[in-house]
Amino acid sequence: MTLEIRLVNTADEIETVAALAQEIWNEHFPPIIGQAQVDYMLENLQSAPAISQQIAGGYEYYLVNLEERPAGYLALVPSVDEEAVQLSKLYVKSEHRGGGLGKAIIDFAERRCDELGAHTLWLTVNQHNAGPIAFYERRGFTRDGELVMDIGGGFVMQDYKMVKSLAGE
Ligand SMILES: CC(C)(COP(=O)(O)OP(=O)(O)OC[C@H]1O[C@@H](n2cnc3c(N)ncnc32)[C@H](O)[C@@H]1OP(=O)(O)O)[C@@H](O)C(=O)NCCC(=O)NCCS
Repeated sequence: MTLEIRLVNTADEIETVAALAQEIWNEHFPPIIGQAQVDYMLENLQSAPAISQQIAGGYEYYLVNLEERPAGYLALVPSVDEEAVQLSKLYVKSEHRGGGLGKAIIDFAERRCDELGAHTLWLTVNQHNAGPIAFYERRGFTRDGELVMDIGGGFVMQDYKMVKSLAGE
């Protein structure tokens, strides 16, 4: 299995991430947050222009390719002091789940934290997204409170914050 995790730089790569987002979000999230909120979030957070803007603001997007084909993506957001890194996006196409790709991506994110000198990797996850919550717990993350965020358009995100301390590893 050839796995490649590459930093997203070009307009084509950004389009590939946006296409993956369309596919994965429309498959996974309608039962959890409803189609209207999926549409709203895809347009405002995961369209090509939105992703370009995030990259300009310091997000690191990475494409995950299996056998040279896009299989998922992630985004990391280092804090200004680089003490902590947010795993802002982690999405694997449904046909590739359960085969260790998510684990490989978390390992990659932890290596990137190490390069940056960051001691904490954290994320937010929808409170009803049970499978990924179990996945993160399996990977050593613990819940660190609830986050309720108004994202506009009449939509509210109800998330858990989850944290993994990397100090001493
Ligand atoms: C969460 C996600 C990234 C996990 O990726 P994956 O490639 O399926 O995970 P892996 O195959 O590497 O699984 C790693 C471990 O987590 C466990 N795990 C994975 N999915 C799980 C689930 N739904 N429930 C319970 N455990 C799970 C696996 O059993 C495995 O355990 P092991 O360490 O004993 O082998 C992937 O399922 C996904 O993209 N889901 C949909 C999108 C999403 O909600 N993303 C998260 C947004 S915050």
